[in-house]
Amino acid sequence: MSVEMVVERTLVMVKPDGVRRGLVGEIISRFEKKGFRIVGLKMLRMSRELAEKFYSVHRGKPFFNSLIDFITSGPVVAMVIEGDSAISVARLMIGSTDGREALPGTIRGDYALSKSENVVHASDSPESAAYEIGLLFSEDELA
Ligand code: TYD
Repeated sequence: MSVEMVVERTLVMVKPDGVRRGLVGEIISRFEKKGFRIVGLKMLRMSRELAEKFYSVHRGKPFFNSLIDFITSGPVVAMVIEGDSAISVARLMIGSTDGREALPGTIRGDYALSKSENVVHASDSPESAAYEIGLLFSEDELA
């Protein structure tokens, strides 16, 4: 185990399929039980404009329009979690993008069978964490 501890914040989001399927509590619970602190939490329905900003790195890709349709199809639950190595650990906890390939024990591995409707999002780098947290939360919404 590394002796260094790097406290980070990252953005985790239950996608519309996860909300529709009643997985919000389960997903929040996994991050709490792992030891992360929830420092921000909200339900919102993304506008197309917000969704296109959130996923701007994917603009121009073949799946971009269907991704925007999907992520705006219903409410999402966004949270900011804080703890040691939160960005990389949250990525391990959600599993591979394609639910068919995500390992059992990961959130997608346990609850998703699709590459497009895969239940949950987590920021993939310090830069995207800062960008995504800034898009969805104001300073006074973070504990
Ligand atoms: P990506 O950032 O590659 O994956 P992750 O969510 O694991 O960081 O892609 C963002 C989302 O775009 C992904 O969760 C689902 C959607 N997507 C597709 O619908 N088809 C695809 O081929 C890819 C790569 C992503």
